[in-house]
Amino acid sequence: MVRYRKFSITLIALFMLVALKIYIDLTFTPTHLPEAPSVSPELYQNPVVQLEPLKGNEELSLATLYNLAQKLRKSVIRSEAFWNTEQLQLLDLKRPMAWTCSNSTSLLQVKGTDPYPELLQSFLAHSRCRNHKMIINQPKKCARNNTFLLLAIKSSPQNFAQRQAVRDSWGGEKNYGGKNVKLVFLLGTIPLPNLSPLLAYENNHSHDLLQWDFVDTFFNLTLKDQLFLGWANKHCAGAKYILKGDDDVFARTPNIVQILSLLDNRRHNSLYMGHVVKSARPYRDTNSKYYIPPSFYVGFYPPYAGGGGYVFSGRLTPWLYLVSRFVVPFPIDDVYTGMCFMALGVHPVGHPGFKTFNTPKEEKNSCSEKQLLLVHRKSPQEMLKMWGQHYEKMQQC
Ligand SMILES: *[C@@H]1O[C@H](CO)[C@@H](O)[C@H](O)[C@H]1NC(C)=O
Ligand SMILES: *[C@@H]1O[C@H](CO)[C@@H](O)[C@H](O)[C@H]1NC(C)=O
Ligand SMILES: *[C@@H]1O[C@H](CO)[C@@H](O)[C@H](O)[C@H]1NC(C)=O
Ligand SMILES: *[C@@H]1O[C@H](CO)[C@@H](O)[C@H](O)[C@H]1NC(C)=O
Repeated sequence: MVRYRKFSITLIALFMLVALKIYIDLTFTPTHLPEAPSVSPELYQNPVVQLEPLKGNEELSLATLYNLAQKLRKSVIRSEAFWNTEQLQLLDLKRPMAWTCSNSTSLLQVKGTDPYPELLQSFLAHSRCRNHKMIINQPKKCARNNTFLLLAIKSSPQNFAQRQAVRDSWGGEKNYGGKNVKLVFLLGTIPLPNLSPLLAYENNHSHDLLQWDFVDTFFNLTLKDQLFLGWANKHCAGAKYILKGDDDVFARTPNIVQILSLLDNRRHNSLYMGHVVKSARPYRDTNSKYYIPPSFYVGFYPPYAGGGGYVFSGRLTPWLYLVSRFVVPFPIDDVYTGMCFMALGVHPVGHPGFKTFNTPKEEKNSCSEKQLLLVHRKSPQEMLKMWGQHYEKMQQC
């Protein structure tokens, strides 16, 4: 009798576990929102595609790129959504669009849906336009062709203090054990006040501003990316690596340089490294800064490195620049960059040292942050303080 009772209790417990498992399986949705992305702990283990150096003949390169970009076809869901439709149409064209401002007037939208939010409408109205003039340039930044790491920092005209803190700390142009680090800030314009005299003064001292003639807003960051790629392709094609980041991140530049110098050729050739977000979906909350309506984009985002800071091989610059002509603009810049890398067949690799989403708490034990390479949301004061402590910490740990 006792044995029978024991048996039935075991049976009930087993049944409950199975039911619980089924319940969890049914209710679990594998959504990874950008706030809690996964970082793949395995370092440099993604498949790596070897891209041949670009030939001088652009026609030939475009044909190659056209074939490469067809890879996107598999990952674009066939749907009425605006971006999906446009992207599939673009992949059908044998030549990419010219992407000049003259053709940027038509405002398109999926019929029968609510009007897009104003920002998205403005983005669409201008998204074909990628030939903005430069206001401030640094054509000689990489003239000596010995740049190991180019820091390309997205800033806004009014962020004077952030820029100065970056220059005075981790972003200073230095030579780390024979490897040259160079710095540029990427700027648009603001309508008012007129900051041009101040920016000219600043640039006269620092020689590190790149400014283009477009309004510097969140939804214009993709445009900023593309203009920067065009600049880098023309003026800094010899840079071995490029770190693209925000002006409120803190980076351990010497450690990044060291890690990059240890990469072998194969890894160097197609590096795209940062805090990798996988299987993210568009935010459908209309109040979010990242809101994307279902009538605009359907599907997951490609794996991408968080835009706060990531590193890629300078060798990929011309490829990225050209392949982006086959990728329809998307308002969220790091997602767009992920799409372009995907078109090239280059996969992002995660590195746990890049913390662009979660801000780690100030640790009492300073050695616990030894692995840290880049962290987001730092004020100018914090940046200077962290830089002051950097060498101290390196010695202690
Ligand atoms: C602009 O668009 C028109 C028609 O939509 C097309 O014929 C023309 O070639 C385009 N121009 C450029 C420079 O792309
Ligand atoms: C920048 O420097 C140039 C020459 O070095 C000078 O002529 C010009 O007035 C300076 N501009 C500002 C805004 O300081
Ligand atoms: C982007 O810049 C253009 C050119 O200055 C501007 O007309 C447009 O409104 C900006 N777009 C957004 C979404 O702010
Ligand atoms: C820059 O240097 C690299 C190798 O160090 C070389 O392959 C490349 O051709 C050089 N580029 C220019 C423009 O001199």
